[in-house]
Amino acid sequence: MKLLEERILKDGNVLGEGILKVDSFLTHQVDFELMQEIGKVFAEKYKDVGITKVVTIEASGIAPAIYAAQALNVPMIFAKKHKNITMTEGILTAEVYSFTKQVTSTVSIAGKFLQEDDVVLIVDDFLANGQAAKGLLEIIQQAGATVAGVGIVIEKSFQTGRALLEEAGVPVTSLARIQEFKDNTVVFTEADA
Ligand code: G4P
Repeated sequence: MKLLEERILKDGNVLGEGILKVDSFLTHQVDFELMQEIGKVFAEKYKDVGITKVVTIEASGIAPAIYAAQALNVPMIFAKKHKNITMTEGILTAEVYSFTKQVTSTVSIAGKFLQEDDVVLIVDDFLANGQAAKGLLEIIQQAGATVAGVGIVIEKSFQTGRALLEEAGVPVTSLARIQEFKDNTVVFTEADA
C-alpha cells in the first residue's frame, strides 16, 4: 500500500534491534484517515469470503481493525491482555509469548462473541514473530470458528511470523513488508496489497 509505505518513510523511526517506531500515526497517536484507508484495503481483499467478524488484540491493533470492520460492516472484537472483573464465564484464552518483551501473557475473548459459523479476519498492527496472531488463531479455533486470513499493517519480513501463519494454512495480507533496516532506513519488499 503505497500511501502507508510513504508514511513509514516519512514518519517512521528505526530504533536499534530491528524496531520501527510509528507512534505518530499507528501505535500511540493515530491517523484515522490512514487507518480508514487501511481498513478499506483489507475489506476489499476479503470482501468475497463471507467475513462475519474482525478480531484483533489490544491496544494498537484496534485502530486498523475497527475500520476494517466498518468497511466489511461486521463487528470488531479485541482480545484482552488483562483479566477484567466483568469477564466471568465462557472465556477463551491463549498464552502469547512476546520475544520483544520476553514475557508470556494470557489473552482472552469472551466465548459469547465467537460462534462456530463465524468466518474471521484477524487484523494486527505488526507481524514480527507471529505470536500474537498465533494466540488469536488458537482462541478462534477453540470457538470452532474459521479464520479466513490475517491482515497486517506492517510486516517485518526478516522475522518468522509470516512463515508461522502460512504453515498453519492461513493467508497473510500485509500492507507494508519490511525486508530490512539498512543504515537506519526502511527497505521494503513487495507488499500484498
Ligand atoms: P509477535 O506478536 O509478532 O510475535 O511480536 P513480538 O512479540 O515480537 O512483539 C510484541 C509487541 O511489540 C507487539 O505489540 C508488537 O505489535 C510490537 N512490535 C513488534 N515489532 C515492532 C516494531 O518494530 N515496532 C513497534 N512499534 N512495535 C513492534 P504489543 O506489545 O501487543 O503492543 P500494543 O499493541 O499493546 O501497543
